[in-house]
Amino acid sequence: MGKDLTTAYATFGEAGITSLLKTTPFPMMKEIYTAKPLTSAEIGGVIAFLKEAGSNPPPASQYPNLFVIIGGVGALLIIGLFQWFWRGRLAGVRRPLVKGGSK
Ligand code: HEM
Repeated sequence: MGKDLTTAYATFGEAGITSLLKTTPFPMMKEIYTAKPLTSAEIGGVIAFLKEAGSNPPPASQYPNLFVIIGGVGALLIIGLFQWFWRGRLAGVRRPLVKGGSK
């Protein structure tokens, strides 16, 4: 619901986040934190966490196409499986008719 805060520390800095968490200028956050404001210690903890999170961005995936490849192979496997299960579905219509008619 809220935003990705990975870069919040770089954007707002320590002073910015402190004032943001004390004043909570966004309606949704105001609703929550006016009733139960964060203590200075909690704000300090959140800032330390955001600083750490911003300096260690998650590594980019090593195989960005893997998801598409697995999806494609998975789809082919499922289609193949159903083909195999229903391999006889088109047989047995014309042949019995022709056989019956020739009697
Ligand atoms: C300690 C916890 C939280 C921190 C540190 C925090 C921090 C922030 C920050 C830095 C922004 C500004 C983001 C930007 O404009 O780039 C923001 C916006 C916002 N936050 Fe939080 N937040 C917290 C908890 C929550 C919670 C619990 C909710 C709701 C369940 C919430 C909902 C929102 C919403 C809706 C916005 C406005 C996003 C927009 O439309 O621009 N936040 N928050």
